[in-house]
Amino acid sequence: MRMTVIGTGYLGATHAACMAELGHEVLGVDVDKSKIEQLAAGKVPFYEPGLPEVLERNLASGRLDFTTDYQRVADFANVHFLGVGTPQQHGSYAADVTYVNAVIDSLVPLLEGDHIIFGKSTVPVGTAQELQKRADALCKEGTTVEIAWNPEFLREGYAVKDTIEPDRIVLGVREGSRADEVAREVYKQSIDSGTPFLVMDLPTAELVKVSANAFLATKISFINAVSEVCEIAGGDVTMLADAIGFDERIGRKFLGAGLGFGGGCLPKDIRAFMARAGELGADQALTFLREVDAINMRRRDRVVELSREILGGVLGRRITVLGAAFKPNSDDVRDSPALAVAGQLSLAGAAVSVYDPEAMGNAAKVFPTLDYAESVDAALEGAELVILATEWQEFRNLDPVHVGELVADKRIIDGRNVLDVAAWQGAGWEMWALGRSL
Ligand code: UDX
Repeated sequence: MRMTVIGTGYLGATHAACMAELGHEVLGVDVDKSKIEQLAAGKVPFYEPGLPEVLERNLASGRLDFTTDYQRVADFANVHFLGVGTPQQHGSYAADVTYVNAVIDSLVPLLEGDHIIFGKSTVPVGTAQELQKRADALCKEGTTVEIAWNPEFLREGYAVKDTIEPDRIVLGVREGSRADEVAREVYKQSIDSGTPFLVMDLPTAELVKVSANAFLATKISFINAVSEVCEIAGGDVTMLADAIGFDERIGRKFLGAGLGFGGGCLPKDIRAFMARAGELGADQALTFLREVDAINMRRRDRVVELSREILGGVLGRRITVLGAAFKPNSDDVRDSPALAVAGQLSLAGAAVSVYDPEAMGNAAKVFPTLDYAESVDAALEGAELVILATEWQEFRNLDPVHVGELVADKRIIDGRNVLDVAAWQGAGWEMWALGRSL
């Protein structure tokens, strides 16, 4: 099939490359010329394992191309995927749908014939209906444009796999729609291999996405709230999580207690969900998400506080923060718990040295005043306290004996509960973790 992908950020670039990988002919478009130039040259502008190979392979096959020209997009295909960003609005919890609206305004007046736009962006419920009205008002006579919603559930770090082999495909359509036939063709390979394909109305599809993310955020904050109690009561949150996780109704995934969630999705999506529920008059329904957000933020403060307690104040003290990305296998530092901790410690007067295998460039743009070391060893040199803030495999594999020779004092906070306590303590380290007394 021929299709276009509008917006080539994280979601769009991945979707475009993966649709070509499935055998479709794909044209990606973005208003950001430099992004398009990079993608057309086979360079992925962010870190995502496996994506560069998929991009290169499909550029070479001729099935994938990129442009900044909306007229080309209008002429190229009748099926379009919309994957532009919906960031948090300044001064509000709500999502900003300016870019989504701008796509409709730029594309629809150029279209001829019958078109379907599949929205993939995470949007406030009701957006698809509004976009349909907007498109109806803008399209040429004799042209039809249908808006359908096909939310994206990909995780950073697993984006290629999640796009090619999704857990489920969700499609929201209006009454009398023909979009589900088209979507079945687009996702034929996945559907034939047994991936559940759920067709529903537009509001439900929009709500599925934010509900999924709200649930995941709640699960993480649940265990982090229990973690706070464990710290005081002398319990061990990791053992507790193992024990409750064996109950299939609960499950162990996303019960990783530690510094909490960050990134471009979970924090923004729970806030936008609360804001939208309030706008719709369901004021009470999602107030618990405020608590989910607060619990999450408190974990960052706790690590800063713990550092103060351990060192008897952080002013002038040398602290190494391992990790800057919001999670491993990503160079994304948006709302990163690791960078928030490093930043807070630095602002409190500590001499903070940071190392991350992939996110240093992005981190330096957000927080230029931190000291970014060239290697993990260089970062650890002379540290009076080490904080493991993002659980990269490289950090999990660190040899406590070797690290012990680099630092000034063998003290470490395991902010993600991933280190082998016996090995580190055996090598003479004093250890602290969230939700456990070590
Ligand atoms: C998330 C959703 O998982 C995905 O389906 C959606 O499309 C986009 O948002 P992503 O932001 O890539 O994906 O990250 P995810 O892997 O979900 O992790 C989110 C955050 O939660 C990270 O900061 C991670 O470190 C943290 N986390 C995750 C925990 O603190 N504990 C856990 O047990 C799991």
